[in-house]
Amino acid sequence: MKPQVEVFVDRPQLITRALELTVAEIKSAIAQRGRCTIALAGGNTPKPLYEQLATQDLPWQKIHVFWGDERYVPLSDPQSNAGMATAAWLNHVAIPPENIYPMPTQAADPAEAAQTYDRQLQTFFGTGPQEFPRFDIVLLGLGPDGHTASLFPHTEALQVCDRNVTVGSKDNQPRLTLTAPVLNQARCILFLVTGANKQDALTQIFAENADAAQFPARLIQPTHGTLSWLLDAEAGQPFQ
Ligand code: 6PG
Repeated sequence: MKPQVEVFVDRPQLITRALELTVAEIKSAIAQRGRCTIALAGGNTPKPLYEQLATQDLPWQKIHVFWGDERYVPLSDPQSNAGMATAAWLNHVAIPPENIYPMPTQAADPAEAAQTYDRQLQTFFGTGPQEFPRFDIVLLGLGPDGHTASLFPHTEALQVCDRNVTVGSKDNQPRLTLTAPVLNQARCILFLVTGANKQDALTQIFAENADAAQFPARLIQPTHGTLSWLLDAEAGQPFQ
């Protein structure tokens, strides 16, 4: 399915559209399957979306929140993706704590933590070792280097296709990340991309034959779901 690209004059308008799409997908998932599963992006861009989601009147007991990736730090660390979304959104709504699945970052060995989260996903989604969980919504960002989640250029994580969760690496700092096959199983993938420093990566990602090892966001080609790119005017300049 061809990706949907929308360019917005500024970040507030991008966030308004992201909220509209996210809420619509949440309601659709609940109407069709009785629940919604969403995997969150980290970084800075999605924070205002999470703040807007905190204002919504939704059946929170039917919404289950996961993460697409995580820095290997405690929840209380300012770098924590789960910490950011919890402070911006989850602490402000009546979502049951048992519906929130932060990636575990306590184990000394990140690979052990990845296995733990993998098992959590298999248990929740009822998938076996050869099946990938299907999230209703996956939110993703894009780094200037073309990474998404914690799938960084020329790292081993890009090749992992037999597990749900693996260890990513940024500047030799460990990260946990959903693998490309899991991301591509999603029913709805929403990229939120802002800033002129993303233009080069976007140009490469949409080019005829760029190298996915160099620009890992190219790996995101949903098998059945929809793929939407929401860009602000700075990031989306090449598409104007
Ligand atoms: C992370 C994110 C990462 C992020 C991009 C874009 O843990 O940092 O998951 O993939 O989405 O780096 O970050 P910004 O939104 O801050 O530009």
